[in-house]
Amino acid sequence: MPDFLDRARALPRLGLGISTEYGARRQDGALDPAALRAAHPTYAGFLEVGVELAKGLDDDAQAWAARGWPTTYHFLDVNLDEPEDFDPAWLAGMRATIDVLDPAWLCGDAGLWHFGARDRGQMLLLPPILVREAVAPMAAGIAALREATGREVLPENPPGAAFVGDLHLLEYFAAVAEAADTGLLIDCAHLAIYQRCRGLDPLAAFDALPWERVIELHVAGGSEAEVDGLGWVDDDHGPEVLADTWAITEAAIERAKNLRAVVVECERNPIPAVVPLFAATRERLPADFTAATS
Ligand SMILES: [Fe+2]
Repeated sequence: MPDFLDRARALPRLGLGISTEYGARRQDGALDPAALRAAHPTYAGFLEVGVELAKGLDDDAQAWAARGWPTTYHFLDVNLDEPEDFDPAWLAGMRATIDVLDPAWLCGDAGLWHFGARDRGQMLLLPPILVREAVAPMAAGIAALREATGREVLPENPPGAAFVGDLHLLEYFAAVAEAADTGLLIDCAHLAIYQRCRGLDPLAAFDALPWERVIELHVAGGSEAEVDGLGWVDDDHGPEVLADTWAITEAAIERAKNLRAVVVECERNPIPAVVPLFAATRERLPADFTAATS
């Protein structure tokens, strides 16, 4: 198989897009992806569909796919570092969903999506343990999923209010990317939260990451909270993006020469509330990054 950087040449440029997950629009006033595409085509160049196979695809995702519009498949239910998670029934469900969505690639947080067995009552999301020993199992899972589906699998840095391990998050993902020979999805809001909770500068350890492997970025709002004197950032996907997240986004765009896609994660907000967020993101991208859609 050619190296990832050769394979990456075949990955399409999706431009600016939006994310959804099952039932996101049940909340009053939540974003209607097709309506955003109709009103602002360049803000909704593709839909990143969050998939928990036990729930399936909701009407919005199915309608989008039925029109042949571009998608990516964001998994929400697999611990990549646990080989027993790739059971035949789950893989069959994933392949069937890939047939419906025809995603440009697969992606998703490389962490623990469930604790114990994969069960509806045990779904959560924890970051990986940031130690050298945790690199090889994660890389093996990424390669196995790529092989099983025939699609690139881009691990994403998960959110977290606390992290365990002696590696910097970017050192860990650099090692995973090299070991799995894969691309990466960097969530700028998650990275801002990580840097802050470790007491680091927003761009700390930036040079550790092989930025040429970064294919996709996420930008999302967050809010500062404090409980009993402990300050933390809530990854709330609201309309206010922290200054740290913008600083990371700008530095990432400058370095990620193979960038293909940027998702503005804001699925539970009405369109007028988030249009400025899309405009601010687009402003930071090269002029030719978002093409007109039809
Ligand atoms: Fe994300």
